[in-house]
Amino acid sequence: MAALEGKVVIVTGASSGIGEATARMLAHEGAHVVIGARRLEKLDALATAIRKEGGSAAVQQLDVTELSQMKTIVDLAISRFGRLDAIVNNAGVMPLSPLEALKIEEWNRMIDVNIRGVLHGIAAGLPVMKAQGFGQFVNVASIGAYAVSPTAAVYCATKYAVWAITDGLRQEVAGQGIRLTLVSPGVTESELAETITDREAKELMKEYRRIALPASAIARAIVYAIGQPADVDVNELIIRPVV
Ligand SMILES: NC(=O)c1ccc[n+]([C@@H]2O[C@H](COP(=O)([O-])OP(=O)(O)OC[C@H]3O[C@@H](n4cnc5c(N)ncnc54)[C@H](OP(=O)(O)O)[C@@H]3O)[C@@H](O)[C@H]2O)c1
Repeated sequence: MAALEGKVVIVTGASSGIGEATARMLAHEGAHVVIGARRLEKLDALATAIRKEGGSAAVQQLDVTELSQMKTIVDLAISRFGRLDAIVNNAGVMPLSPLEALKIEEWNRMIDVNIRGVLHGIAAGLPVMKAQGFGQFVNVASIGAYAVSPTAAVYCATKYAVWAITDGLRQEVAGQGIRLTLVSPGVTESELAETITDREAKELMKEYRRIALPASAIARAIVYAIGQPADVDVNELIIRPVV
């Protein structure tokens, strides 16, 4: 897809799962990827693999709950590659549990990573995109942004928030050349369920994940949205396994 050649794309949460698959595919299509997550050794291994295949990647250790770190990765993209075409706000956690289990620290972590992380991506990227007159946020939500299920109330709340933030920003930046895409995966192979500490929720999830899509299925959707011409804004994509 020539449309991606030379584009500069930041991917958060690129050390595993959907983020890793997305970074690989974007680089394969000719984009410069700037990859962030907390596990630096995983990012380094991914960047090495991308470069071996002739792709271009820069690495930045990143905790999306820290605004200053999100600004650092945006600065790296600009200083290394001279522009910023898109930020894929993908980093997320999903420690499911019933509310009555009162796993308050886990609720807060979901709010911090899944909501504040996306807001920090916007806070760091938006001024740059406004100055450029172009840019795109691809915010990874979930089918949990459209329906709630038991043990997932807080997780779904964070994804409803991502939906609202994405739609709100789209309306506010109308006419400024900035594109907003919400990508909502159904069950997908990744490390996401490993953050679940509640025994019952973990068991339920094992059954649910038997039909999981490969992460490359979601990566293809993200590559599609970024690869569209500048006057095309792909607003929402929901990708689920066939049942
Ligand atoms: N897999 C599914 O079934 C599914 C379905 C719907 C939506 N999603 C969404 O897809 C996105 C990606 O998840 P995944 O399924 O690919 O799971 P994953 O394999 O667990 O990937 C999550 C990524 O987020 C990163 N991350 C976690 N906390 C972070 C933080 N504070 N700062 C920076 N990075 C952080 C992790 O890297 P480090 O630990 O190295 O920081 C990892 O790279 C999430 O937003 C998730 O909610 C997934």
